[in-house]
Amino acid sequence: MSVRKPEPELQPLDLFQEWFAAAAKSGMAMPEAMTLATADEDGRPSARMVLLKGFDPAGRLRFFTNYDSRKAGELDRNPHASLLFWWPSLYVQVRVEGKVTRLPAAESDAYFASRPRLSQLGAVVSPQSRPIDDFQTLLDQVSHLAHELGEAPVPRPANWGGYAVAPESWEFWVGHDGRLHERFVYRPAASGWSLTRLAP
Ligand SMILES: Cc1cc2nc3c(=O)[nH]c(=O)nc-3n(C[C@H](O)[C@H](O)[C@H](O)COP(=O)(O)O)c2cc1C
Repeated sequence: MSVRKPEPELQPLDLFQEWFAAAAKSGMAMPEAMTLATADEDGRPSARMVLLKGFDPAGRLRFFTNYDSRKAGELDRNPHASLLFWWPSLYVQVRVEGKVTRLPAAESDAYFASRPRLSQLGAVVSPQSRPIDDFQTLLDQVSHLAHELGEAPVPRPANWGGYAVAPESWEFWVGHDGRLHERFVYRPAASGWSLTRLAP
């Protein structure tokens, strides 16, 4: 399956959505999984996978996590991140870099309410990125909370919510045989985006 390549008149967000749809259609598992790279205040990087959960009206990429996690601590002190998608079925990669801000509480509430109940319970009990004594205790806490709440909705914990990444650059990479890949970078211009080709 092949995808359209960047062109100056194509908007990066539109192209990204086109590639994303093609990746989903290709049948690959979890095309919405992306690497999120952050760095601490000394510039030391860390990376992990998170899930892309759509876009806000300004075209910012949304993901959700625990606000006390390692990534959140790094974003508090250094709100710049890079996202990376690798879609092998298309042999393409997309890199996004940008500034990260927390989503308004109402958006986190809405997304939290849409999650499966077990994921909601897990989000409440898990002190993400902190040491825990054993796994069973976590499972027991989920069962205990489920019992306590009965049929009542699971309230979103204040330390769980969303972030939005506002793209400051988009790099689209198209793989070819023989290492002669194509790379295109969109960066903000006076009006819209400028498009540059990079050596592979
Ligand atoms: C495919 C995949 C998707 C994931 N999605 C999320 C996610 O959307 N949010 C999240 O907090 N963690 C997600 N995780 C777990 C993270 O990779 C990571 O372990 C966790 O967020 C703690 O990261 P931190 O200690 O760097 O903050 C995902 C892991 C995988 C493998």
